[in-house]
Amino acid sequence: MLKRDHPVAFAPGFLFSSSANMTKPPSEGPSSPRTASRLDALLIEGSFRVAAEARPLELQGKEIIHLEFGEPDFPAPAHIVEAAMRALREGDTKYAPPPGIPALREAIAKAAQARGISATAEGILVTSGAKPMLQYAVFAVVQEGDDVLVPNTGFPIYPSLVRLAGGVPRRYPVVRQGDGYALDVDALAAAVTPRTKALMINSPHNPTGWVANATEMEAVAKLALAHDLWVISDEIYDGLTYEAAGSPSFAAIPELKDRTIVIDGFSKRYAMTGFRLGFGIVPPEIARHITSLIINNTSCAPHFVQRAGLAALEGPQDCIAEFREAFRARRNMFTAALNLIPGVAAPRPAGAFYAFADVREALAHAGISTGALATRLLHDFGVAALPGTDFGPGGEGFLRFSFASAPALLERGAGLFRQCVESLAPVSAIEQYAIPEAM
Ligand SMILES: Cc1ncc(COP(=O)(O)O)c(C=O)c1O
Repeated sequence: MLKRDHPVAFAPGFLFSSSANMTKPPSEGPSSPRTASRLDALLIEGSFRVAAEARPLELQGKEIIHLEFGEPDFPAPAHIVEAAMRALREGDTKYAPPPGIPALREAIAKAAQARGISATAEGILVTSGAKPMLQYAVFAVVQEGDDVLVPNTGFPIYPSLVRLAGGVPRRYPVVRQGDGYALDVDALAAAVTPRTKALMINSPHNPTGWVANATEMEAVAKLALAHDLWVISDEIYDGLTYEAAGSPSFAAIPELKDRTIVIDGFSKRYAMTGFRLGFGIVPPEIARHITSLIINNTSCAPHFVQRAGLAALEGPQDCIAEFREAFRARRNMFTAALNLIPGVAAPRPAGAFYAFADVREALAHAGISTGALATRLLHDFGVAALPGTDFGPGGEGFLRFSFASAPALLERGAGLFRQCVESLAPVSAIEQYAIPEAM
């Protein structure tokens, strides 16, 4: 059997130089005269950078526990894999209609209706993962110079795409509150400017696991209406919620229906990351334009992959419940273990599969930065996690751990993280012995 390739198998330096922090805002330095300056606007996800940084360590024989990737460790359900193989055998190896095969668009519309969204197949666009749909949504509504509200912390691809489209990302805070995270509604309202064109929002939220409640959703709706904003709602973690059954969609708010673009896909709740299958639920007004973007980009999502998506929606849904319950158990175990570490507080996320640990006390004790702690954890203790700063400046003092990994790995990862934190010398000792900050 072929050994499975994983992103961590990137040859060192092949994609990114491990020293470059590709998740920082546009490199202040100029682009090469041989490349387009718009490339300076691009950020990448920290998980790819950290995996590339871990690779040389692994090549030296060091074992690394990978808690950086947002990827379920479960195989895709057998009936979904079988549907893709059947489709290949049956000859679905040609171009498909650019907006998606009709049966899949219908099935997605039906699933959206079950969430209270008044979608029809015409407003469903099928893409190669949720990410391209994010790009299409931004390109469809953002003009040069427009302001776009993006969450801080939030998925780094949002500000990246906004800049690529010539817009200006304006961050609004998702903050630690009580035993969880919340939207700072007042700060969100204060971030609106006369140039604000769109609001990007993500519930359940990467990296904090925040799930918008009714009050927060109402505040967002009022703001969008008052300022005539598009709402680009990334709902990719729908189905993976632990306190409530599902997460409500912004598109289900009747007043937002015509101004909301939902981004969703099969990657997370069906464990189908490698299939690259996502979709958008868009107002009819822009469906035609986004179809043009699809034609200009990939022509279509692969036909046989769309057949797999159809099997996912039409087949038994128990897999989602199984994954969710497994994630819930891992969440409970992992956050409990993190909360036993002095100087660390890990609120239980309400959704998605990330523990966003508040390490501010531990950092203050040791006088080091978030990035230095993540580096030490990787290099000296063999655990790959992401500094919260990969998700915006609001992530200073936080580390993101994915608990989409096997329980045994999570247990060991938490134990090693504990050793790492306990090894931090108090700040006075650091000053006294002049130990370098980053190892
Ligand atoms: C918030 C968010 N949106 C979108 C995506 C991308 O999903 P896909 O793999 O379907 O492109 C991710 C993946 O990590 C994510 O965390």
